[in-house]
Amino acid sequence: MQDDPNPFLRPPSQTDTRQTEPYSNSLNPQPRAQATKRNKFIGFTRDEATMTMLRTALAGHIPHDNQVHLADFRQALKILGEMPTPEVVLVDLSGEEQPINALLDLSDAVDAGTVVLAVGDVQNVNFYRLVVKDMGIKEYIPKPLTKAAIIEHFLPVIDNLAHKQAGQRGGRMIALCGARGGVGTSCIAANLGAYIANELHRHTLLLDGEVNTGTLALDLNLAASRGLPAVLEAPQRVDQLLIERCVQDLGDRLHVMAGMEAMTWEAPCNPEGLANFVQTVRTRYNFMVADTGARLSPLARQLLFNAQQRVIVLDATLISLRNVERLRTLPVGSGQAPRPLLVLNKAGAQGGLTQHFMEDKLGAPFDAVILDAPRLVGGHSGFGTLAVRHRGPFRQAIISLAAALGIGVQPEAAHAAAQPSYAGAT
Ligand SMILES: Nc1ncnc2c1ncn2[C@@H]1O[C@H](COP(=O)(O)OP(=O)(O)OP(=O)(O)O)[C@@H](O)[C@H]1O
Ligand SMILES: [Mg+2]
Repeated sequence: MQDDPNPFLRPPSQTDTRQTEPYSNSLNPQPRAQATKRNKFIGFTRDEATMTMLRTALAGHIPHDNQVHLADFRQALKILGEMPTPEVVLVDLSGEEQPINALLDLSDAVDAGTVVLAVGDVQNVNFYRLVVKDMGIKEYIPKPLTKAAIIEHFLPVIDNLAHKQAGQRGGRMIALCGARGGVGTSCIAANLGAYIANELHRHTLLLDGEVNTGTLALDLNLAASRGLPAVLEAPQRVDQLLIERCVQDLGDRLHVMAGMEAMTWEAPCNPEGLANFVQTVRTRYNFMVADTGARLSPLARQLLFNAQQRVIVLDATLISLRNVERLRTLPVGSGQAPRPLLVLNKAGAQGGLTQHFMEDKLGAPFDAVILDAPRLVGGHSGFGTLAVRHRGPFRQAIISLAAALGIGVQPEAAHAAAQPSYAGAT
């Protein structure tokens, strides 16, 4: 992930009134002077297969009404010329006899500072160098596109921009919640956190947001600590030092905050204090993986609000399906990805709904599907070991989830990865 937005060619002096024009991201430009806000993203591609591939891979990383449209390069130029340029523009150069000239034309049609991504049919490495190094294109992928290539090359650009827009630097908080109790949220949080820390080598804090009944410490075979209460009871004192003292080390890069407070203890939950805590954690860690459970306590709500990305875990039941819709109505803090990721756990369990049926009802494919594997998962829960360490579909699904979160490697490469290389104790 690079920090430099690598703005597209057009110099700032050439910006014009288009910035004040509205655009709905339908292919019909709206009348002028209705709105001033720039959309985050618009994409154009010549063929349906690429459009579908992009839409699938970008889902959850761009607002749902910022879409990839079917249009050739010239149509795209026309549309872009009649709208305020979105922050990220994706164009398709295929079919252009002079792609470099086409890019020069594009530079006249978009505002300065726009991040441009391109796809095309030229496979040549010199062409890649030319457009990326000299023409200011942020990334170029030759067709045919794969989901893995989009995840690896385009998503970091798009996600990185989202973090900058949030105006906050630092790591990302991923909050997992269960569509209902017992779906496996804690199990997935523990395995995901351990995978990010131990195999992707990113500094990670694994947080149990269920302070009275949480099971993360048990799952990881750790003594429950009083970390979170210390933080919640004195939000004004929260700084790096306090956090350092409140976490338990479970490997070089994996820290855990997981307690088991008395049932009589009610977590104080001051929204400002919690936001401060999250921000302090984000300056110290690359990722915070928070298990917020399924009971929507005040603390869980605040964690979900402050997260940059939510993940909803479902099992194959109607109750899960129903609750996903309801969870989507929870308020969302600034800088949060527009769509929660959806994970189907215990897929294929006896008596469960089919994945196809659920996806049909949800109107979107799952971002990760974890098979029902009672022997593997049950054999690890509570023993301080983690199922993700073992090659097979469970590990593969956790890797896919990390990839869907834009972390680390693409699923295909991960599939071919050698034995897990755990350094920590988990
Ligand atoms: N993919 C899976 N296959 C089989 N069993 C699983 C799978 N994932 C989790 N489990 C099992 O499901 C049970 C519940 O898991 P877990 O505690 O993670 O759920 P939870 O959603 O966090 O529950 P709670 O709502 O109580 O917090 C555990 O026994 C766990 O081993
Ligand atoms: Mg749990």
